[in-house]
Amino acid sequence: MLPAERTERQLDMQNQGDDNTLPRSEMRIAITGANGMLGQALCKSFSEHSVRALSSKDLDITSLPAARALFSDLRPHWILHAAAFTDVDGAELNAAEAYRINALGTRNIATAAFENQCRLLYYSTDYVFDGKLNRSYREWDSVCPVNEYGRSKLAGEFFVRSLCPAHLIVRTSGLFGPGGSHFVDKIVQRAKKKDHLQVVDDQRVSPTLTSDLADLTLCLVAAEKRGTYHATNSGDCSWYEFACKIVSLSGLDAQIDPVASSTFPSPAQRPPFSVLSNYFLELERIPLLRSWESALGSFLEV
Ligand SMILES: NC(=O)c1ccc[n+]([C@@H]2O[C@H](COP(=O)([O-])OP(=O)(O)OC[C@H]3O[C@@H](n4cnc5c(N)ncnc54)[C@H](OP(=O)(O)O)[C@@H]3O)[C@@H](O)[C@H]2O)c1
Repeated sequence: MLPAERTERQLDMQNQGDDNTLPRSEMRIAITGANGMLGQALCKSFSEHSVRALSSKDLDITSLPAARALFSDLRPHWILHAAAFTDVDGAELNAAEAYRINALGTRNIATAAFENQCRLLYYSTDYVFDGKLNRSYREWDSVCPVNEYGRSKLAGEFFVRSLCPAHLIVRTSGLFGPGGSHFVDKIVQRAKKKDHLQVVDDQRVSPTLTSDLADLTLCLVAAEKRGTYHATNSGDCSWYEFACKIVSLSGLDAQIDPVASSTFPSPAQRPPFSVLSNYFLELERIPLLRSWESALGSFLEV
């Protein structure tokens, strides 16, 4: 970055702080994708604050004029941007729609956030990595998505970084929680109907409970953090290991067989090892999220 550019950016950030200074107690929070799985958890975790929950009916993020008008009216301190096109296989079949929502939509949110002096938090994904590193990914490791969903989310990261200096990017993986469509519910439903299931054993992830991630988001936002963080429940597993734990904790007795991904050909390629090291949380001594097994136990108890 050139010195002149740096000065301009610093001034921009200073102005953002001056015009929309974070209050000590109640913050104005706008949440995109508020009806989604993570969005619902965010609404709960931020319930002490003044939350404006935005569904796609309240704001279609693909419209820049609509985003500009809404945030100019609401003037939130923070926008938590959880709206996304999240169908990984669907993104291969309809890439333009994935880019319209994840790239263009995020560009619109970043533009409107900057113009209205809002801080912006964008959720991204482990699928920005190709999974070939053979160790967990740190925040600054080279990205190289292997599918359209990952490329579209990476484009979103690019626009957030370049258009809105006061930002946080939180990469997460394997979300599960109340009110969503996810792996845990699918395995429980299938294990209730069938004696035998086959689940892939050659892709490793860190499953993450939405409410744990939402609570951590509150800590990061309240502490005025900036930059890119990896945030997942601790530990990792293959989808097969995850499924075994889901079935045993649910008290079901379906047998699960490990299989290769090639058993279930799908439109999207997936990284074999997209485990995220929560390295910045560690470096800053922010308590890491509990293990995925403990989070899964809590979810299944409810
Ligand atoms: N799910 C995972 O395993 C996972 C893993 C890593 C990262 N992430 C990231 O985490 C975030 C949350 O994921 P999630 O699983 O909670 O998502 P989700 O349940 O699929 O919800 C996404 C929401 O996006 C909204 N949306 C879609 N198009 C929109 C548009 N044009 N304008 C406004 N809103 C629109 C939808 O709103 P309506 O319902 O109102 O139409 C939907 O509720 C996303 O950024 C995702 O990429 C998810």
